[in-house]
Amino acid sequence: MDALKTLKTEKVGINFGGLKAVEKLDFEIGDETVGLIGPNGSGKTTFLNIISGIYKPSEGRVIFKGEELNSFTPDAIRKKGISRTFQTNRLCMNLSVIDNLLLGLYCEQKTSWWQAIFNRSLAMQEINRGIDKCFGAISVFNPEIVDRAYELISTIPLIDRRRIEIARAIVGRPKLLLLDEPTAGLNKEETHQMIEDITKIRDSGDRISIIIIEHDMSVISKISDRVVCLNAGQKIAEGSFEEVSQNENVCMAYLGG
Ligand SMILES: Nc1ncnc2c1ncn2[C@@H]1O[C@H](COP(=O)(O)OP(=O)(O)O)[C@@H](O)[C@H]1O
Ligand SMILES: [Mg+2]
Repeated sequence: MDALKTLKTEKVGINFGGLKAVEKLDFEIGDETVGLIGPNGSGKTTFLNIISGIYKPSEGRVIFKGEELNSFTPDAIRKKGISRTFQTNRLCMNLSVIDNLLLGLYCEQKTSWWQAIFNRSLAMQEINRGIDKCFGAISVFNPEIVDRAYELISTIPLIDRRRIEIARAIVGRPKLLLLDEPTAGLNKEETHQMIEDITKIRDSGDRISIIIIEHDMSVISKISDRVVCLNAGQKIAEGSFEEVSQNENVCMAYLGG
């Protein structure tokens, strides 16, 4: 069974001073989209930070495709196939759209810095291939962004910036994509478009596992195959959206929050 799981955590936890932000969390994801919900401060982002290596867990293990990740850096974990977006925008505002997208391919880069100097045609070939991949990734969401590829990110509307962040996360073909509140700050219509965008990734046939943190339950209900709810760092429910949304502990956690 375990061989089928993309990622598993075993009793994973982290303390910040006296605060147990995540505690003894057993979690697993296979070839599916899991919605991660819970009130503010329940440990959702911290959990993604543990998986992506930004925080080292104080207890437990993170296992990706059978390999323990605890001792790896965020960069090494990215190279192994776990990619993410952040709750707050992490695009480089003073770079162009295409430069931001190309950053998503750095872990695939084959030409070394000296080849870039002494064998420019090889480096240019790689850059041009990268640009094609980036255009391919972004045009799935909105082909018009390709026409603005050389404009500064700061001139691009919020919904398209979100798409660029997601395209940057998937252009290197990760096995596991972590999305932290991708619809935050979007209006109703844009949220609907974002659901469609994420559905396209899910159904792309690339066998990608997705963990999505969302506060908007309509998004969670449409996108998730399964839902996990955290409260005060602990898993309090998991199952289908219907099961979790009717769970008494989940209702209490949201009312109490
Ligand atoms: N680097 C940190 N240092 C201290 N406390 C932190 C840190 N990161 C998160 N926390 C705390 O951990 C708890 C969980 O936070 P977070 O994971 O951001 O919640 P969520 O994403 O569910 O809203 C909160 O109480 C938060 O203040
Ligand atoms: Mg958060």
